[in-house]
Amino acid sequence: MELLDAIKSRRSVRAYKPDQVPEEVLTELLDIVRWAPSATNTQPWEFFVLTGKVLTDLNHATVAKIREDMKPNPDIDLFEKPPKGHYAKRQQKFFKQILGIIEPEEGKDKMQNWFEMSVGNYGAPARIVIVADKSAPGWFAFDIGIVTQTIALAAQEYGLGTCILGDAAAYPDEVRRIANIPESKQIIIGIAIGYPDWDHPLNSLRTGREPVEELVTWCGVAEE
Ligand SMILES: Cc1cc2nc3c(=O)[nH]c(=O)nc-3n(C[C@H](O)[C@H](O)[C@H](O)COP(=O)(O)O)c2cc1C
Repeated sequence: MELLDAIKSRRSVRAYKPDQVPEEVLTELLDIVRWAPSATNTQPWEFFVLTGKVLTDLNHATVAKIREDMKPNPDIDLFEKPPKGHYAKRQQKFFKQILGIIEPEEGKDKMQNWFEMSVGNYGAPARIVIVADKSAPGWFAFDIGIVTQTIALAAQEYGLGTCILGDAAAYPDEVRRIANIPESKQIIIGIAIGYPDWDHPLNSLRTGREPVEELVTWCGVAEE
């Protein structure tokens, strides 16, 4: 796939086929994405690949936390600053889109159902959890953002879909306990990964973007 096509056609995949992703494929993917840039080449990322019983146990444990009404307690400040102003408008638009597609299970509201699907990895057979050591230097979250998008883009070359999951960092103690991740590691983000079920209604969601003219200010353009 051409790079520009990969950038433009990538979208979050929220329904997957049950097929496992071969370990060699995930290994090759992670071998490629480690070429992502990072501040002063500190490479502050480590990958834990969760599949099988570990992933199922984590999904169940996290859904249980939500049902106990347990407040998210992420390692880094991810949920504390809700969007305001035009950010809130964009978020509302997205919520309306996704909640318009979700068919909630009996007795559940759509928001709760969505959160449960999200922490449940949307049924994907694997999740890449990206962690940073607690001693990681200042730019680490930025660097992990870059490697996260690199995974999402490169995955497409293997016919794989992804959904970046901030929700996967909501209950880090559960992630560490179940995936046996040392206390010294901060859970930054999760990425659901697997073969997309393109026929599923959840994968019909198409988000938009603001027009480029509204985002760009030209400074010091040379006169003709
Ligand atoms: C940092 C980050 C966290 C995200 N967390 C979630 C999540 O927990 N659950 C989810 O369904 N999507 C999550 N997403 C996906 C976004 O909702 C999605 O990227 C956005 O709506 C744009 O849609 P697109 O990826 O299809 O282009 C996250 C994306 C990013 C970059």
